Amino acid sequence: MCGIVGYVGHRQAADVIVDGLTRLEYRGYDSAGVVISPRGEAASKLDVVKRAGKLSVLKDALVTSPLQGTLGLGHTRWATHGKPNDVNAHPHLSEDYKLGIIHNGIIENYLELKQELLAKGHVFLSETDTEVMVHLIEEHYRGDIVEAVRNALKQVTGAYALVVSHADHDVIVAARATSPMVLGLGDNENFVASDVPALLPYTREVIFLHDGDMALITQEKITLTDFDGNAIEREVSTIDWDAEAAEKAGFPHYMLKEIYEQPTVLQNTFGGRFVGNGTDVQLDLKLDPMRVNRVVITACGTAYYSGMVGEYLIERMARLPVEVEVASEFRYRQPVLDANTLCIVVSQSGETIDTLEALREAKRQGAKTLAILNVKGSSISREVDDSLYIHAGPEIGVASTKAYMAMVAAFELLAVWLGRARGTLPDSEAAEIIKALRATPHMVEDAIKERHHIAEIAEAFKGFSDYLFLGRGINFPTALEGALKLKEISYIHAEAYATGEMKHGPIALIDDQMPVVCVATASELYEKTVSNIQEVKARDGIVIALANPEDEQIKAHADYVIKVPQTHELVSPVINVVAMQLLAYETAHRLGLDVDQPRNLAKSVTVE
Ligand code: AGP
Repeated sequence: MCGIVGYVGHRQAADVIVDGLTRLEYRGYDSAGVVISPRGEAASKLDVVKRAGKLSVLKDALVTSPLQGTLGLGHTRWATHGKPNDVNAHPHLSEDYKLGIIHNGIIENYLELKQELLAKGHVFLSETDTEVMVHLIEEHYRGDIVEAVRNALKQVTGAYALVVSHADHDVIVAARATSPMVLGLGDNENFVASDVPALLPYTREVIFLHDGDMALITQEKITLTDFDGNAIEREVSTIDWDAEAAEKAGFPHYMLKEIYEQPTVLQNTFGGRFVGNGTDVQLDLKLDPMRVNRVVITACGTAYYSGMVGEYLIERMARLPVEVEVASEFRYRQPVLDANTLCIVVSQSGETIDTLEALREAKRQGAKTLAILNVKGSSISREVDDSLYIHAGPEIGVASTKAYMAMVAAFELLAVWLGRARGTLPDSEAAEIIKALRATPHMVEDAIKERHHIAEIAEAFKGFSDYLFLGRGINFPTALEGALKLKEISYIHAEAYATGEMKHGPIALIDDQMPVVCVATASELYEKTVSNIQEVKARDGIVIALANPEDEQIKAHADYVIKVPQTHELVSPVINVVAMQLLAYETAHRLGLDVDQPRNLAKSVTVE
């Protein structure tokens, strides 16, 4: 998604902005730009440099055309309307270079507004929806830039975050409607950005803007109002993420660092939540588990797969009917919900627009809502009834790893909590599962030790163009996540099937050109899985099996065996996913691809 950075203070704004945009690169983008206001000079105008491509292109342009000034705005754009080129890059400026706009999100009624503005003689240079804001604010500008922005926003519908500067005004105006925006409070300097990492080198005191908030940002102070100009108060949060936490800590890629962080992340996810004599958990939720007779889980991508694991766990432990649906389908399906339905939304970023809108649909229908989330202060966290935080820390790699594992761990906790509260999970079973959960950090460390062997397999098959992933029961989602990891960072076609589905079609694909990765760890369905592996081998298929070290028979059936520590079957998705993550990572790394910022992808999809 797009990145925004704004600054006003005593430093050279362009330096602060480019540094901040660099820390937001993980959000995915295809062009970038900076606009600087000279501040205080009469009849002045704004200076702008913007280029298609990576930040390195912008930095080169700034060397040849340096921008001096201590108030400015910068942007990395992920194209939605209009292809990535210099003209469509932000900032967008008025013809007289007095007014500069940067915008994240989508202005849904931009075509209608554009027609009206064209009819009034406005000349458009770009194909973007954003440029409509420039001309709209110009239309309303009578000397007060804040009023002009307020009046323009009254005509706009859509999900956006907007920052505005004007050469004649020593202020940055920011407005938020759905797309995230955070303010940084400095010493005689202030900041605005689309995400926290851009602020960390300068301040940890931040204000997360809410939908409908406007901020008037000067060097000395920040004033908050609603879109109608009524003063509002917002709490100041202190970010406890270390700057290094968002750095790579010596690893070649954020993704690998985050895979190795997973044992610590699990300890943070479980931290303080195991109580009693090892048979209970505490989650500090307002939710009354006895007032729920049905659960709906909705999310996108990897988060959705964690929800599929959650379905098995909650049905098994709490004996509640569960359905899982991708958010982009759920929000338009006109689902039937009621006050006894618990709708669980799952999101690392808390900003995924489809998941946010699915949450809003569930609330419109009066369902109880719970979010399994990583980022505090995110949009979903502010609109949901209850949040269960996964405490995974900042996840920078676009391909989710530690957040997925933490989401699955959170569902483990939630299923135990629901089962114990509803009396459907006996002490003995609860104790077994909690004992297995407590052991997962060390088991994940052991699973990571298979990395060298996995790298050899990745090397052997990195040139193949198709993969099939198979999993049964609670590890079917593990296969789905393995296929997603591989395709999103190595660009190799990979699909996943429930192992028992093989004979209903996919078996026609089997040949010696398509590696088959099969989860074959200890399970009630292990023997059936071995039969499926034999079906693949009988058709010259190549089998890469994930199996427990204790399994002596698997090597007689599989071409390659990746050892995965054995645990309680209901806890095995936490451990088994490590091999999937490493297979994808080592394959993409060996193909020399951009592991942390794969093509076409963004870390958080905040536009539809
Ligand atoms: C995960 O590897 C993907 N990058 C993507 O599927 C992601 O899980 C999805 O976009 C949901 O993001 P969220 O968890 O921030 O809502």
